Amino acid sequence: MKSAFVLLAFLAVSQGLLRIPLMRGKSARQRLEERGLFEEYRRTFPYNPSAKFLPRNEQSVVPMTFDPDTTYYGVIGIGTPPQFFKVLFDTGSSDLWVPTLSCTSSVCDSHAKFNSSASSTFQAGVNPFYISYNSGFVAGSTGYDSIKISDLYVEHQVFGLTETEAVFLGSVPWDGILGLAFPGMSLDGGTPIFDNMWNQGKIPQNMFSMYLSSSAEGSVLILGGTDPSYYTGGINWIPLYHATNFWNIQIQSVTINGNTVACSGGCEAVVDSGTSLIIGPSKDINNINGWLGASPGQYGDAAVSCSYMNLLPDIVFNINGYSFSLPPSAYVMKSASGCRTGFAPGTWILGEVFMRQFYTAFDIGNNMVGFAQAV
Ligand SMILES: *[C@@H]1O[C@H](CO)[C@@H](O)[C@H](O)[C@H]1NC(C)=O
Repeated sequence: MKSAFVLLAFLAVSQGLLRIPLMRGKSARQRLEERGLFEEYRRTFPYNPSAKFLPRNEQSVVPMTFDPDTTYYGVIGIGTPPQFFKVLFDTGSSDLWVPTLSCTSSVCDSHAKFNSSASSTFQAGVNPFYISYNSGFVAGSTGYDSIKISDLYVEHQVFGLTETEAVFLGSVPWDGILGLAFPGMSLDGGTPIFDNMWNQGKIPQNMFSMYLSSSAEGSVLILGGTDPSYYTGGINWIPLYHATNFWNIQIQSVTINGNTVACSGGCEAVVDSGTSLIIGPSKDINNINGWLGASPGQYGDAAVSCSYMNLLPDIVFNINGYSFSLPPSAYVMKSASGCRTGFAPGTWILGEVFMRQFYTAFDIGNNMVGFAQAV
């Protein structure tokens, strides 16, 4: 009787899960390399992946940098009837924003734009919306509307409508960003979409999880729990560390063949689906790249020989007593211009390079992150 009840409860929970397929588009790096423009963009928009985690000195400013390698996006609908947008599901920020019809930057023309007059449920907000880049600010407005994700509707969700955009956004494969970090990082006073989903009783558990495939298809964002068909073994849980606004954990060390090569004595790292690489202080990253025989270029990319890739060692992240091992197939990035390592300088961030190897659960209710070996 009891086991029947447990089984029913399990079915109820797993049935309440929402699975949002994530697609992989062509990266900005690929698009710009094809047009011979990558170097120029890299010079104009320096890669500063940690900028989004700096303390904010101005309210409701979303800091952003040009990450040329983000590729995953899912589709959401905004308004009634829904207008559809490709968004980057970003655990490193807390706001939702898309371009608006009145966007005056030509780069907005390469994206879907929200027509607020065409939504019967749209309400204008009073606050402006700012995104800051290394090279300046862009602005927009805020509004409230109903957001459709999979079969679920989140009511009265605040979001940003960009009216100007930096030129690099013209080559990213997504139209806007949907932030999945904590309320402390969000538009002043606004409740992030995931918190609204939970508060409005739309999901069975106060957590979400992500499976990032290295293929073009098959990746998924799961709202309301975890799905064992995307991982093997158990989920290893890690409590959030100095948790405030983002998904921050403590790493004990990073080792290669038992030698500590980075994060000696421990360090803090943000788990961020909106950052493509693994980021760490330059001293640590130079040391890791040194062990791999990689030579860093002017803009932080560290080239390695594609033909020796399989001779490279595993890199082990020791976290909360667990060992998470990254083989070269996970941390070497291949593109038309050759191979490079997935390690770049900044403050510690475990980005997509790490999350492709480890299915990641984000448990808001218990303030924990879980990693499991991805299938
Ligand atoms: C925006 O929506 C309004 C109301 O439905 C419509 O009249 C207008 O043509 C739309 N604008 C564009 C550019 O689609």
